[in-house]
This record gives sequence, C-alpha cells and structure tokens, in this order.
Amino acid sequence: MALTVAGIIRMKAKGERIAMITCYDHASALICERAGLRFLLVGDSLGQVMLGHTSTIPVTLEDMIAHSAAVARGAPESLIVVDMPFLSYATPEQAVASAQRLMQDGGAHAVKLEGGEAVLPAVERLVSLGVPVMGHLGFTPQSANQIGIRVQAKTAEAGATLIRDARALEQAGAFAMVLELVPIELARAVSEAISIPTIGIGAGPGCDGQVQVWHDVLGLIDHPPFRHAGRYAEIGKAIESALAGYAADVASGAFPTDANGASIDASVIEEAKR
Ligand code: KIV
Ligand code: NA
Repeated sequence: MALTVAGIIRMKAKGERIAMITCYDHASALICERAGLRFLLVGDSLGQVMLGHTSTIPVTLEDMIAHSAAVARGAPESLIVVDMPFLSYATPEQAVASAQRLMQDGGAHAVKLEGGEAVLPAVERLVSLGVPVMGHLGFTPQSANQIGIRVQAKTAEAGATLIRDARALEQAGAFAMVLELVPIELARAVSEAISIPTIGIGAGPGCDGQVQVWHDVLGLIDHPPFRHAGRYAEIGKAIESALAGYAADVASGAFPTDANGASIDASVIEEAKR
C-alpha cells in the first residue's frame, strides 16, 4: 500500500522512526522503492547536486517539476514531497499557483517550504485547499545569503522562536517539518512540543525521523563528508572505476566482442558486398 501523509503522522504516534531521502531522478526512484524507502523528498538541493549551481537560489519551478515528474513515474508507492523553490511562495496566491504546478505537472503529493512566521499564511491557504505541507526550520538554505551556513538557534531567545515557529506550523496545518542544523537538545525539545513528526538533518538523534541527501548517503560527491551526513557506500568511486574500465576496454578492443552483437550468415554479407 502506498505511503500517505496520514501514515507519516501515525508513525510518530506509534513511536516509529521515519526515514526520508532526497531523490531526483527516475532510476533512483526505482531503487528507493526496491529498498523500501517510501518517503521521498525532491529537494531543491538538486540545484547543487544535479545541476551544478552553488546554492538553491537559482532553482526554478520548471526544474522542480521535471525532476519530480521523473521521480513520481518511478515511485508509485511512495509519498513524494517536493520543495517549493526560492520565491515561489512569497504570497499565499503564489504558493497556490506553484503547488498546483508541482502537483499537477510534477506528480507531487505534498510540498515543502522554508520558514516560520512569514510563511504561515501560505501554509494555511495551501492546507485549506487540500495541499499537504511540510515545514522546514533551523538552517533554511534559501536564506543562506542572510543567515549564513551554520548551526541555527544557539541562544535561548532563538530557541524560543524556533519552538514557537514549530508550534505555529503545526497549528497552520503542516503535517511534518524538517529541522536542519539545530542543536541536538533544541531539536529534541521541538519534537516533544509538537505532535507532527520532526525530520532532522544535522539535528541529532532526538527527532522523529531523518532526511539525508542521496549523494551524501551514497558517497557520490567528492567534498569531505559533512559531520551530519551518514555515508553508507562509495558509489562515486565505484562509478569512476567502472567508467575507467569501460573506456580502457573500448580502447583495447576487449569490448565489445561478438557476444555483444547479432550475427547473420557469411553468405548474406558476400551477396551484400557484390
Ligand atoms: O533540498 C533538500 O535536500 C532539503 C533537505 C536537506 C531537507 O531540503
Ligand atoms: Na531544500
């Protein structure tokens, strides 16, 4: 049975921990489903890891739709959450128009947007119209130019704001929220303060679930691993050696061989050459 928003909320109620992973393309979506990972985020981190931008700022609604649609076609049993890109939800009306595209053209089941108080009217409007919304507090990458890339809410005052924002998002109807780069103790306190699931990244073990970026988990990027990244394979190295082997075999003539082609009787070629 396909995973649903209600299913995710139920997991917190039952004390089951929730694993989410980013996913950006069709082949990866097929693998996620085979692995039993059914809570997928088409994150705007695709700006960096798929498109080579240096931040999520340049990511467009069209980018999100293309990647989301590819994931949706490969993961029919999954709950697919898609990030609303930078400045695509500046007003409730714009948020509705953006969510419409992501759901109707991109196959999204839910949208995620970053921020606290400023986005509450958009969250309320979306939820009232039947769009499931996931929040995102703490380090919000779309605001990196304002807040820097660092652990957030390290003071009592900032912690209080974060707890207030989390409660407000729950009140506005969000079904879950990401907590990114916040201190362990604060993430735990937020998780205890609300009844919808918190999905942490760089927020310690006290959240109700975890989200990780595909490329980090699989060792697909070169940079030294982030402290918060769980690295479960060295697929980048495996790909590199496979590609080098392929190129070497073509150069040496070891690949392809007759076994990789189809044959006809020699007499047919004799006749064709005449
Ligand atoms: O875009 C993304 O990958 C995200 C996760 C890190 C939460 O928003
Ligand atoms: Na994101």
